[in-house]
Amino acid sequence: MSSLQPPRYLITGASSGIGEELARQLAEKGYTVGLIARRKERLVALKQELKYKPGKVFIYAVDLSNEAESTQAYNKLRSEMGGLDGIILNAGVGRDDLKAPWESDAQTIDINVRAFAHGLHWAFAHFQEQGHGHIVGMSSIASHLASGHAPVYTASKHFVSNYMTGFRMKANALEIKLDITDIRPGYVVSEMTRDNPHTFWMASTQRAVEMMIKGIEKKKKRIYITKRWRLLAELADLIPYFIWNRLSF
Ligand SMILES: NC(=O)c1ccc[n+]([C@@H]2O[C@H](COP(=O)([O-])OP(=O)(O)OC[C@H]3O[C@@H](n4cnc5c(N)ncnc54)[C@H](OP(=O)(O)O)[C@@H]3O)[C@@H](O)[C@H]2O)c1
Repeated sequence: MSSLQPPRYLITGASSGIGEELARQLAEKGYTVGLIARRKERLVALKQELKYKPGKVFIYAVDLSNEAESTQAYNKLRSEMGGLDGIILNAGVGRDDLKAPWESDAQTIDINVRAFAHGLHWAFAHFQEQGHGHIVGMSSIASHLASGHAPVYTASKHFVSNYMTGFRMKANALEIKLDITDIRPGYVVSEMTRDNPHTFWMASTQRAVEMMIKGIEKKKKRIYITKRWRLLAELADLIPYFIWNRLSF
């Protein structure tokens, strides 16, 4: 990337919530952004909304559970954007439901685990070839927890964070200049939290994304959104196994 070239980032899950606001704020800052999600009409409307912002906006509607089509989307956007400096793997699903059927758990695994890992692999290979790059993954405070209401969601976020740590170590072993940022939000206003009555310490989407972008630009390794969630994460890490087994939330 030349010093005059604005940063170019792909963002998955950009049709609502955190991803949509990341697109808005990064375009405002002059970034070139490539936006991915299934709902094409939402991406088209967002591109239209951002028409006069300093950053260029490209879109591609795809279901990330389809790996062949996802690879096509990543390649196409990278080429339209004239290259890539980073990717924000943000797409995710979550459901708080003691009666969640298998299909719901399977969908969470497909997107939060498999599609996340596929996107990270694609980006790692590309950044390895070009000699630099930035991978940002949307984990959660849930990566420190377990939950009877959302066991697959908390497990999926353990995977996301642990996978990123492993890839950081792999980059070290291969001597690749790669930055990996693990974002761990608590509750943030979005479609995902809209119908959840059990939320607290809820951050506005705008404030949460402002904090995320500060951390992304500093290429931080781990960011808690908002900062007080870090305390809860550290406390959760101290809870012994026998206590987890007696909890019921
Ligand atoms: N909100 C919170 O409190 C919170 C806290 C911690 C972590 N997070 C994480 O933040 C990320 C964004 O969530 P959000 O809160 O902003 O929720 P959201 O508003 O529901 O956004 C989820 C995004 O993921 C996309 N997506 C879902 N399934 C997809 C698929 N099969 N293919 C392509 N895109 C797909 C959705 O787009 P389409 O439906 O258009 O495909 C949407 O753009 C998630 O990874 C979530 O786990 C959220």
